[in-house]
Amino acid sequence: MSQTIGSTVKLNNGVEMPWLGLGVWQLSSKETIESVGHALKFGYRHIDTATLYGNESEVGLAVRKSGIPRDQVFVTTKLWNNDHGRDRAPRAFMESYKELDLGPIDLYLIHWPVEGDRHQTWDALLKVHQEGKCRALGVSNYTIKHLEELLERTSMAPAVNQVEFHPFLYQKELLEFCRKHKIQLEAYSPLIKGSRLNDPKLVEFATRYKRSPAQICIRWAIQHEVVVIPKSCHKGRIEENGTVFDFKLSAKDMAAIDALNEDFRCTWDPSNTP
Ligand SMILES: NC(=O)c1ccc[n+]([C@@H]2O[C@H](COP(=O)([O-])OP(=O)(O)OC[C@H]3O[C@@H](n4cnc5c(N)ncnc54)[C@H](OP(=O)(O)O)[C@@H]3O)[C@@H](O)[C@H]2O)c1
Repeated sequence: MSQTIGSTVKLNNGVEMPWLGLGVWQLSSKETIESVGHALKFGYRHIDTATLYGNESEVGLAVRKSGIPRDQVFVTTKLWNNDHGRDRAPRAFMESYKELDLGPIDLYLIHWPVEGDRHQTWDALLKVHQEGKCRALGVSNYTIKHLEELLERTSMAPAVNQVEFHPFLYQKELLEFCRKHKIQLEAYSPLIKGSRLNDPKLVEFATRYKRSPAQICIRWAIQHEVVVIPKSCHKGRIEENGTVFDFKLSAKDMAAIDALNEDFRCTWDPSNTP
């Protein structure tokens, strides 16, 4: 069956997560309410926020205002670095839970593999998960090393690992590792933060497919079976970024886009986090 904007992937615990979501980092309160509202109206069914972004309550408000049944919208939020630890982590979770005010959170991520504290945090969050206050638990910015360490000691593997992933940062090894361990990879900064969308090679693909460079980046991630969360506060771009299920990149072009990799990062590099 062909995919649509609401199509989902089944996570390792059976929870269904839409392949495409709207990222809301660096959106003001007003922008968050308007952008989330517009995205949901257009057909998006997945929103990615975080404690760090300071807009969880606006995300919750926009989801409630949309009138879409709660179980049809997938909402992710994340635990920030100063909230790690056995006692602090469950408290931080409950703060997000209250801010969002949507009932159980669909996916709760550890935002960064903070040295020393991350295992206690994970163990504390397992209890939160068991209590049913979130439907899936995952991590973000975890490298293979961080994942191996976690998998060795946990009773439950993370459902998702959210990392920077785009044509100039094709993290092939990490993707293969996650696939092997049934951890869903999720792409943040999939549009390279807008900084390289005028790259001549990306523009060439876009011209050939009669699409925009942004649509090529999003489609490339989806065809790699990576969940993708482009951010925009412009209605036209939110719609453009959501219109990626009516064309397909050929295997040859997928390989050519893979070859654009430069290990280029536009956000954060967790490689040296012990
Ligand atoms: N876990 C983490 O550590 C982490 C880190 C970074 C991001 N994230 C998540 O991932 C989401 C996306 O990443 P991101 O915000 O860093 O960057 P991104 O989605 O790669 O790029 C966003 C930038 O691209 C522009 N843009 C969007 N659509 C466009 C289009 N069709 N044509 C041209 N420009 C376009 C946006 O401008 P306008 O808004 O003006 O349209 C914005 O400047 C975040 O919002 C956040 O939810 C997570």
